[in-house]
Amino acid sequence: MIKGKVVIITGAGSGIGKGTALVMAKEGAKLVLADIDREAVEAVCKEVNGIDGDATFIQTDVTDVEQVEAMVDHALKTYGRLDCAFNNAGIEGQLVPLDEIDVADFDRTMSVNLKGVFLCMKYQIKVMEKSGGGSIVNNSSVMGMVASPLISTYCASKHAVIGLTKSAALDYVNKNIRINAVCPGGVETPMVTQVLKETPDALEDVLAAVPAKRLASPEELAEAVIWLCSDRSSFLTGAAVPVDGGYTAQ
Ligand SMILES: NC(=O)c1ccc[n+]([C@@H]2O[C@H](COP(=O)([O-])OP(=O)(O)OC[C@H]3O[C@@H](n4cnc5c(N)ncnc54)[C@H](O)[C@@H]3O)[C@@H](O)[C@H]2O)c1
Repeated sequence: MIKGKVVIITGAGSGIGKGTALVMAKEGAKLVLADIDREAVEAVCKEVNGIDGDATFIQTDVTDVEQVEAMVDHALKTYGRLDCAFNNAGIEGQLVPLDEIDVADFDRTMSVNLKGVFLCMKYQIKVMEKSGGGSIVNNSSVMGMVASPLISTYCASKHAVIGLTKSAALDYVNKNIRINAVCPGGVETPMVTQVLKETPDALEDVLAAVPAKRLASPEELAEAVIWLCSDRSSFLTGAAVPVDGGYTAQ
């Protein structure tokens, strides 16, 4: 399904990005792994190549236009083309009521979660257009579809990712470039375990709100991302696909 495709994954050093890299590698994708954390992404790259995967890495801050251009360039120099991208890098920002959010934290969260996706798409689309098409998956969240208290900047950024995805999908619908968003519910990753460490009772509350009564694994998200990247989802574009154990169906 993804065999032989050249895929950029941002935020590949941890969590969902890392899980997706490992599953895609096992299925024969050629991976460009990008993350702001050089050590983490280098380690994931080694792990992927250690299981006979085909991966290269590049340290990239998705908020920096030159670094994003260099990331896309790195894909072209290494593999000669770009077929798919999983724009996944994201941060949660401060988890406090809105009036307590620092302006700098608002700016940083919007910059990573929204501007980062914008910049990645901007440069990925340019090369996909030249080569005749591609498929882009942006990582939003169930918080891009509904809301929760104490998370307003994150929630706004993830709603905006869906808007960006839908509108961009329409820009390129006749150029063979499909653009979709995936909307995970709670996934067992360092981002979530850190939040749960800060608020120990939160896990019970989180699980009570999920019909499936559990968190997802990064690999379960990877399956949805692979399907969205692959030609098997050929008539899907501009969609926001929840992978949430029933959370948004309630
Ligand atoms: N874990 C969940 O429950 C959950 C739910 C819904 C959506 N998401 C989304 O999934 C994505 C991945 O989350 P995760 O849980 O795997 O988190 P994570 O913290 O485990 O991984 C995020 C990765 O992004 C990298 N990163 C952060 N800022 C970056 C930047 N400026 N440039 C490049 N890389 C950067 C980090 O270094 C890290 O390796 C995020 O966009 C998050 O909002 C996660």
